[in-house]
Amino acid sequence: MNERRNAWATTGDDPVADAPVLRLDGVSKSFGGLEVIRDLSFGVMRGQRTALIGPNGAGKSTVFNLISGVYPVTAGRIQVNGEDITGVPSRLRMRRGVSRSFQNIRLVSHLTVLENVLIGQTPRIFKLAEVLYPVRSARGSRWAREATDALERAGLAEFAGSQVNDLPYGVQKQIEIARALLGGADVLLLDEPAAGLNPQETEALKERLRSIAEEGKTIVVVEHDMQFVGALCEHVVVLDFGQKIAEGTPAEVRREPQVVEAYLGSDAE
Ligand SMILES: Nc1ncnc2c1ncn2[C@@H]1O[C@H](COP(=O)(O)OP(=O)(O)OP(=O)(O)O)[C@@H](O)[C@H]1O
Ligand SMILES: [Mg+2]
Repeated sequence: MNERRNAWATTGDDPVADAPVLRLDGVSKSFGGLEVIRDLSFGVMRGQRTALIGPNGAGKSTVFNLISGVYPVTAGRIQVNGEDITGVPSRLRMRRGVSRSFQNIRLVSHLTVLENVLIGQTPRIFKLAEVLYPVRSARGSRWAREATDALERAGLAEFAGSQVNDLPYGVQKQIEIARALLGGADVLLLDEPAAGLNPQETEALKERLRSIAEEGKTIVVVEHDMQFVGALCEHVVVLDFGQKIAEGTPAEVRREPQVVEAYLGSDAE
């Protein structure tokens, strides 16, 4: 199940292995009377690197909010690993296999890197007493060991004891990814991971995400940088006004007249 699969090259003989790890079926979302996502369906195969793209306000972050349960859907169904998670509360979705980062960095700036990674683990902790432990007394616990390992794997061990607001933006973004990964989720949703990074940091991020996918994780990025998308992703879903207007490889969607039209005059060309 861990090998990389191409969404369009299904063999057809094994329906379970060929099933998408993440699947949206007819998902809609309205805020008051305003429908911001309309009848959205797409699937993502295990280990695939997918980009969700579209002009500003197209509904990309809202899709992540629906998958991670920040908002309930108005209609439709969301499945992870073949399980329906549509009604599962947000805090329990990490255990069901979905983890995410946010468009704006959500680290606690006056805590250390290690403490921030630890805080991210609270949805995984079953024992109330452990949740209530002050973060600083968690040192030496299983959670601290896992957090330290995660920072090491991400090449961030040297920053473990640093206070977040002393670190460059690019490092903070990487910490968010390390934190999202730590829950053991199969599907990683990253909202604009390359935004604000310099070319060197962007290149390092691309390599990091490639190796994460090679380990069998499924990555979905929302990204405006089309060069980044073209270099990293094999599967692209294009949204405009809350609707899917195209889906395919980066080269395929670039050729779609509706995509060209949606981006006309924008810098994403
Ligand atoms: N909580 C909310 N209440 C009302 N409207 C919302 C809410 N969240 C999002 N919207 C609206 O939904 C639409 C899609 O917003 P969303 O943030 O998903 O777009 P986006 O594609 O992520 O845009 P960007 O590229 O600027 O990040 C926008 O019109 C936005 O105003
Ligand atoms: Mg957004």
